Amino acid sequence: MADYANETSGLTTSRPKTRNRKWLWIGIPVAIAVILAAVLGGVLGSRAHKHNNDNASAASSGPSPTGEAAASQAASIKEAVGLYPTGTNSQYLLPLYPSTTNTAAFTTPTFHESSNSALAWPKDPFQPSKPAPTSVRSDRPRIIAPKYKWDALPQLIKNDPYLKFWNDTIFGNATAYFPLDPVVYHMDGSSGILDNAREIKMRIKAFAYAYRMTNDTKWLDRTYQELQNAAGNGTTSFGPDGQDKWNPTHFLDTAEFTAAFAIAYDWLYDAWSAEQRSSILTSMKFYGLEVGLNAFSNSSTGWWANNIEGNWNCVCNSGLTMGALAVLGDDDSGLPEQILGKTIPNALENCIWAVSSDGTWAETANYWYFGTTGLAEMTASLLTAAGDDFGLLTNNPNLNLTGLYHMAVTGPGSLFAYGDHGPNKFSTTANALLFWGDVLQHPEYILFQRDQHDAPEPWSMFWYDPTVSGAFWDGMPLDLFFDNSTDQWGMMRSSWTDEDALYVGIKAGTLQGHQTHNDLDCGDFVLDALGTRWAGELGSGDYLSTGYFSSDDQDSQRWLYYRKRTEGQNTILVDRQNQLVTAHPTVKHDSSNTQQGSSTVLDVPSDSTAFWTADLSSAYGNGTTFKRGIRMLNGRKQVLLQDDINAPGEIMWRMHTNATVTTSGNSATLTIGDKKLQMTVVSPTDGVTLSTGPAVRFDDDPPLPPNQVDQPNPGVTVVMITLPAGQYSLQVLFNPQWDGMSASDFVTPPSVPIDNWSLTSHNSS
Ligand SMILES: *[C@@H]1O[C@H](CO)[C@@H](O)[C@H](O)[C@H]1NC(C)=O
Ligand SMILES: *[C@@H]1O[C@H](CO)[C@@H](O)[C@H](O)[C@H]1NC(C)=O
Ligand SMILES: *[C@@H]1O[C@H](CO)[C@@H](O)[C@H](O)[C@H]1NC(C)=O
Ligand SMILES: *[C@@H]1O[C@H](CO)[C@@H](O)[C@H](O)[C@H]1NC(C)=O
Ligand SMILES: *[C@@H]1O[C@H](CO)[C@@H](O)[C@H](O)[C@H]1NC(C)=O
Ligand SMILES: *[C@@H]1O[C@H](CO)[C@@H](O)[C@H](O)[C@H]1NC(C)=O
Ligand SMILES: *[C@@H]1O[C@H](CO)[C@@H](O)[C@H](O)[C@H]1NC(C)=O
Ligand SMILES: *[C@@H]1O[C@H](CO)[C@@H](O)[C@H](O)[C@H]1NC(C)=O
Ligand SMILES: *[C@@H]1O[C@H](CO)[C@@H](O)[C@H](O)[C@H]1NC(C)=O
Ligand SMILES: *[C@@H]1O[C@H](CO)[C@@H](O)[C@H](O)[C@H]1NC(C)=O
Ligand SMILES: *[C@@H]1O[C@H](CO)[C@@H](O)[C@H](O)[C@H]1NC(C)=O
Repeated sequence: MADYANETSGLTTSRPKTRNRKWLWIGIPVAIAVILAAVLGGVLGSRAHKHNNDNASAASSGPSPTGEAAASQAASIKEAVGLYPTGTNSQYLLPLYPSTTNTAAFTTPTFHESSNSALAWPKDPFQPSKPAPTSVRSDRPRIIAPKYKWDALPQLIKNDPYLKFWNDTIFGNATAYFPLDPVVYHMDGSSGILDNAREIKMRIKAFAYAYRMTNDTKWLDRTYQELQNAAGNGTTSFGPDGQDKWNPTHFLDTAEFTAAFAIAYDWLYDAWSAEQRSSILTSMKFYGLEVGLNAFSNSSTGWWANNIEGNWNCVCNSGLTMGALAVLGDDDSGLPEQILGKTIPNALENCIWAVSSDGTWAETANYWYFGTTGLAEMTASLLTAAGDDFGLLTNNPNLNLTGLYHMAVTGPGSLFAYGDHGPNKFSTTANALLFWGDVLQHPEYILFQRDQHDAPEPWSMFWYDPTVSGAFWDGMPLDLFFDNSTDQWGMMRSSWTDEDALYVGIKAGTLQGHQTHNDLDCGDFVLDALGTRWAGELGSGDYLSTGYFSSDDQDSQRWLYYRKRTEGQNTILVDRQNQLVTAHPTVKHDSSNTQQGSSTVLDVPSDSTAFWTADLSSAYGNGTTFKRGIRMLNGRKQVLLQDDINAPGEIMWRMHTNATVTTSGNSATLTIGDKKLQMTVVSPTDGVTLSTGPAVRFDDDPPLPPNQVDQPNPGVTVVMITLPAGQYSLQVLFNPQWDGMSASDFVTPPSVPIDNWSLTSHNSS
């Protein structure tokens, strides 16, 4: 814990957390390229955005501006840089940052408050003195996007390259959905009709946005067509006729339909005829809110309300909250009030605690998307409708770290995607970062997310604070460690902005308490370098498989499936047995605390390093002792993975890769495209067998449940190192073959027991 405090203290971006943020000045160094005086009155020209790969050139002298002048200057710089590369078409859908030095633009993340309505949102006119969930603002919309924001938006779009790009993209998406048939009912056994619900929600958000921005009734009519279809009043049937149309036994579906109807009802409130409004309300109440209130006392529909700290609790409470807020005052049955009396306390008991004390999401890196989208939608809806978060932002004091968790778990070769990956995302994104960046005062979250491929969607238009400036990477530590016992994990990298960067993610953690979405994977790691992933994850098994979610007990059928078994992970297997679900590892780590600076190009100092070690003995039985350590070597150009192990049975080191692997003695060459990585077993030198094999179970003992099969893992090779029972320090060196680096530039590390690792223990070879 203490170590993590050290790590985050390296962040220069934390701000005093106040709702009415104080104006803060962070000096912009020296040269400012852009017209300053001209923009003081908010007269920003419509100059073409250019991709500025140069340093700011025109020198400016004198003191740095303050107040409105600083805000105008920051806006001009943003305009001059233009839309930064967004991750829409790269291999991993991550932004590709050019090699850029721009000391004027890429400064410490901050906000420049302004009262200029061309640059900043106005203050919300609704400021209740005694907020209550049931006393809502008098104007519409109430949910997420109040009227004063719609009024301000056109001018902000003109002056912000991101808002402009997102607005254009949303219109493009709405236009693409327009001619499609309404979403066709499809019951998928494992995920119910969740895909249907989320796709409808995604469409409705885009149509309703387009309507409000144009007043063109074609969008209103198209929205109504989608609503009628989902209410079973369309031209084709949509599910069963009774009150279980929205599949309340898989309540995520019900909740997401309710959210979709709430948005349509509220955003288009004044545009609907009285009859349409009443039809929408009737359907939402019958299929959503009534079964929703019942769920709080019905274990078949509402199990998620009872001690579930994960995405289910967040998504279900959020959908019901949005529905209740939308119709509050229009439905006089008392139902909306009763729902709000349940959902808020329930989310405060459960949902918000899925964020561990270190910011990690307790399920998996992918389930973070679902859970945090639900939590952000619920909180934002309450803030706009009722003027308060009612504790959702503050009761878990570490909610503010979950943005950092997401940034850390995102490697240059995509997510460190341990455990299950979840269903399709549709309306689910990482844009909760834009919301939290604003309300929890973390400008770096906004700066990170605005470049991402999933940023363009309606929520972003209202969550984004256009007064943000700087670069997320300026001041970001290269190493971050997360120590909560649920998911002890760490990541070390050589850059935040180089797609070729070296990145290691590794985990220990408990093997229970993840809503049955985890694998038996203590010691599991991923490795990225040279723009590709070398050691990777297999992801979800088939959610429909017998017993897949039965439990996380040792004898659970879940642990029969290859992708969930220890043999399906990048870790060590003893005697070909699964790890013990009772594992309770301990971890240690240290870092040179190197931070990236203003430039997207980072010259890593040669003594910059980090390591992470874990005692994983408790994951194994029969007296096995096992410590795993991983560290950066040679200015973060090489990686050493070491296992100090003493086991009474066969020891097998395993790593899954998409590479083509050729082995030769104690070395292997991994090839992906025209990139190569050399892997060498440095120790022991004798008695080691290095081999490759397919990503399938060794044998059928114990067998899979009747009639079940494992998914194939096409293209995946397992690299294996086997040793007979005994005591070893197994050391594997990974040398990515960087351009311009010759064989003699690689170091061979000394042999140091993991217990003796320090920042300097591997300096000499
Ligand atoms: C930008 O300025 C820095 C520091 O003055 C210099 O090292 C760098 O080469 C410049 N970059 C470009 C692209 O001009
Ligand atoms: C939003 O995008 C649409 C489609 O590109 C465009 O017609 C409209 O003018 C944009 N709105 C604003 C306020 O710029
Ligand atoms: C929206 O449109 C953009 C640009 O065509 C496309 O890349 C993106 O996939 C679309 N998003 C969705 C959710 O349909
Ligand atoms: C749409 O109509 C409303 C209400 O009449 C009006 O306030 C708004 O300015 C109109 N918006 C556009 C884009 O025409
Ligand atoms: C669908 O039809 C039912 C039954 O007539 C009606 O109660 C409900 O309001 C309708 N909903 C929509 C959205 O059309
Ligand atoms: C619980 O919910 C299910 C599904 O909607 C419903 O069939 C059942 O009647 C409910 N049970 C109670 C006690 O309300
Ligand atoms: C891990 O995080 C959870 C949720 O915030 C918290 O309840 C728990 O006490 C934390 N555990 C440790 C060991 O800090
Ligand atoms: C997160 O919020 C807590 C409680 O407000 C605060 O003490 C802490 O400093 C914040 N941490 C960061 C990294 O902003
Ligand atoms: C193989 O590549 C796919 C696609 O990028 C990725 O999802 C998967 O995790 C990779 N598998 C491994 C074992 O690296
Ligand atoms: C311990 O050893 C016994 C006998 O070889 C074996 O059956 C059992 O699976 C081992 N237990 C573990 C957890 O490896
Ligand atoms: C490890 O550290 C211990 C205690 O500091 C020391 O006695 C021992 O010699 C060291 N071993 C090695 C191999 O460096």
